[in-house]
Amino acid sequence: MSVFRTKDVELMIKESKRHGLIKSLGALDITLIGVGVIIGTGIFVLTGVAAAQYAGPGLMLSFVLAGLTVAFVSLAFSELAAMIPIAGSAYTYAYTALGEVVAFMVGWGLVLEYTVGASAVAGGWSAYFTGILASGGFHLPESLTKVPADGGIINLPAVLIALFLMLLLVRGTKESANLNKILVFVKLGAIFIFLFLAGPKINPANWNPFLPYGWQGVATGAAVIFFAYLGIDSIATSAEEAKNPRKDMPIGILASLAICTILYIAVTATLTGTTPYPQLDTAEPVTYVLRNLGYNLGSALVGTGAIAGLTTVLMVMMYAQTRAFFAMSRDGLIPHSLCKLHPKYGSPYLVTILVGIAVAVMSGFTPIHLVAEMCSIGTLFAFFASIIGVMRLRKNKPDWERPFKCPGLYVIGPIALVFCAFVMGNLPAHTWRNFFVWMTIGAIVYFVYGRNHSILGQRKEPEPEK
Ligand code: ALA
Repeated sequence: MSVFRTKDVELMIKESKRHGLIKSLGALDITLIGVGVIIGTGIFVLTGVAAAQYAGPGLMLSFVLAGLTVAFVSLAFSELAAMIPIAGSAYTYAYTALGEVVAFMVGWGLVLEYTVGASAVAGGWSAYFTGILASGGFHLPESLTKVPADGGIINLPAVLIALFLMLLLVRGTKESANLNKILVFVKLGAIFIFLFLAGPKINPANWNPFLPYGWQGVATGAAVIFFAYLGIDSIATSAEEAKNPRKDMPIGILASLAICTILYIAVTATLTGTTPYPQLDTAEPVTYVLRNLGYNLGSALVGTGAIAGLTTVLMVMMYAQTRAFFAMSRDGLIPHSLCKLHPKYGSPYLVTILVGIAVAVMSGFTPIHLVAEMCSIGTLFAFFASIIGVMRLRKNKPDWERPFKCPGLYVIGPIALVFCAFVMGNLPAHTWRNFFVWMTIGAIVYFVYGRNHSILGQRKEPEPEK
């Protein structure tokens, strides 16, 4: 059997009913999952450094560029999410459209986005948490807040938050979605407090020069803050748990993208409008600006909201990884026994525990900033494959029901590919090198294990009729 064997969508839907997850999410839940996973480190941590070092006030345009890229991708993605409402996101789509080996490689690339990304966010969470405790006069010893490479023993807050969220995810999706909802509102509250307090202090003179690093700065800025949009595709991993995926998925994906892009541009405009951009070179720009403007209480409030924000990002990224692994193990490409559901909570608890421990160990012991840049490249690779997949399916499977059709796919699709390639091209060379190493390991795992254990590969071909 060829490594390019594909899965039939009807079969997948049937299978998902047999081994399926509980359907409990509506359009609002999905939008909130989206906002929950998208807004986080990108806006609360990376904006400052990106404005100071790469783009200046032109970072607003970087967000427009990255947002447009994601918008084009999302339109194509939504067609897939509505047509194939099965857990696993880009991995599942690639299995249907491009064949097993591509699907495995996409799934392998998604580990970079979800697990490595989650570990990076857990590190950011720990930094904000430690900072808030310190401003309350409670100092945790450095040996317990830093990884060995930075002179500590373990980053304990990062480990504990990862394990706590793992337990919550084992308890089931509805509980996690409920906590997510509360935290999303706290996070949005923090952003609105910031805009409300700092907005009136904008001095347009700070936007001049608008492009201190030229257009190249805007492009590099877009590649750096692309991280701020990571997770958008993980919304699609919840398709199988949506009550009405065909309507709710496109609404959820596009609504959360619109909300996030508007907020990102507003926050960047406010940051660079209130403070000369070279001063924004800090890992906590939002609270820094408020403190500078004399709003100490506001700064503490917003800092707390940022912690809530990072918690939701972390939770949804871990959730997305468990669903991608769940789908891969259901297909036998990683050990099939991992897709067992919890007898009481109905969650795929074995993969959830595996992901929780992986994130805890990575964020607790490894200098995660070294690999964090790989998150974007893994995601862009999955985007790339999905767009090619959606165009291919339009041609090869024109009869499949498409509750949401990407308008002008043959224009939007190629534009999305060009935008993705442009952003990828602006990532540093060492990121590309690490990416190739990771994908080569993936190819070895597939050919040694996945190909031989694939459930699809073991399925007997029906006897030809006599
Ligand atoms: N988009 C997510 C963030 O910015 C990953 O933290």
